[in-house]
This record gives sequence, C-alpha cells and structure tokens, in this order.
Amino acid sequence: MRVDVFTLFPQAFDWYLTQVHIRKARDLGHQYALWNYRDTTPLSHLQVDDTPYGGGAGMVLRIDVVCAALEAAFGVDAAAVRDDRRVVELTPKGCQLTDQLAAELAGPDLVLLCGRYEGIDERVTHLVTDRVSIGPYVLSGGEIAAMTVMDAVTRKLDGVISNPDSVVSESHSPHLGGGAEYPQYTRPAEYRGWGVPDVLLSGDHGAIDRWRAGQVRKG
Ligand code: 6GU
Repeated sequence: MRVDVFTLFPQAFDWYLTQVHIRKARDLGHQYALWNYRDTTPLSHLQVDDTPYGGGAGMVLRIDVVCAALEAAFGVDAAAVRDDRRVVELTPKGCQLTDQLAAELAGPDLVLLCGRYEGIDERVTHLVTDRVSIGPYVLSGGEIAAMTVMDAVTRKLDGVISNPDSVVSESHSPHLGGGAEYPQYTRPAEYRGWGVPDVLLSGDHGAIDRWRAGQVRKG
C-alpha cells in the first residue's frame, strides 16, 4: 500500500520513518510519502491558514490550500482522491481509532491529512472518507496522531511483524476478544523479592494457556 501524509511539519516524521517496522514495510514494497501544504499553496507569502469566519481564537487551515496539495500530489480533482483511497482527516472531533479500524485501513492506499492551529476548514468533509481521533484529549496538531495511525496500520501489513502470532494475539485483537494481552515476564525469575507466577516456570503448556486465558482483561 501507499501512505501519503499531508502536513505543515514533515520534519516531525523524520525519526518515526526510520523505525524498523517502516523500513520492513518499505522493503516489502509499501510506500510512505510526505507532502508539505506550504509547498503547493496557491496563496502569496506561503500563506496556508486564515482567521475563522464568525471570529474566535486561532487560525484555520484553508480548504483551497488542502485542495491544491491533494491535486499536486495525485493529479486529479481533490474531491476525486477518495474514489480509490481512504482519505483520513486527523481531528479530535473524529471517531476514535480502534484495532479494527487500523486493520481496515491496512490495504487500500491511505491519505492522512494533518491539521494544525484550530484545525482544517470544515469543508474538508467533501474530501475525506474518515475523520479519526486517537483519544479524548486535544493535541496541538495531527502529526502525532498520524504517526499513531501509521504505526497501528503498518503492524497489520503481512510480513511486517516477523512473528505473525504476536499480531494475532496482541492486545485488543479479536483473538483476545478485544481485551488486553496477558502479562509477560522474562529472566530473572526472582528479582528483589519480586517473583514470576509459578505456572509460567512449570513447562506445562496446557496450564500456561489456561492461566493466560484467565488473565486477559476484556476491552
Ligand atoms: Cl487526530 N488531532 C488532534 N489535534 N488532537 C487529537 C487527535 C487528533 N486525537 C486526539 N486528540
């Protein structure tokens, strides 16, 4: 798949894009690209935002700027970009990201639109297929949320995680009934008087499976 991220701060992604799962996905043929709204703005002085109609605090990312960026990247009308892609606006007003949505987004080409300031002009709804939030709190911009979506989606791509069992049975997956994964321990078996559940040291895999099933917290 192809992931195209639109942002005013492409450098915010520099570190994230060097991470091992992204490198692995790229080696498998998946593509990640960053686009700066400022590079294609139709306005003078590299303007990208404006004051809100009706007054109020802050600045709003202009819809003509977003359209110009999409059209420069894809060479089609901005409203047609969503015809063959998922186009996601990152916004605290969106639906909360879930494991299921991450799985659904791993496949079709994906466009992520990051807002800054007070967000993007509401007419962005004509361009998107989804409006996604990563939780009930407000971040200063969509970049961290976009990286969150990219990470959750990239983990779902076949071959990115070398042991597929760790994707199937990880926290929030259907395999665990949407619950959180069982607790994990490693050596040393005793440290500062803190022990490890005896069953995990027993070598009895049936008993270990039953113990783990009992530990899964339902979501
Ligand atoms: Cl997607 N954006 C911003 N700015 N804040 C958020 C968010 C997104 N999700 C939760 N808080």
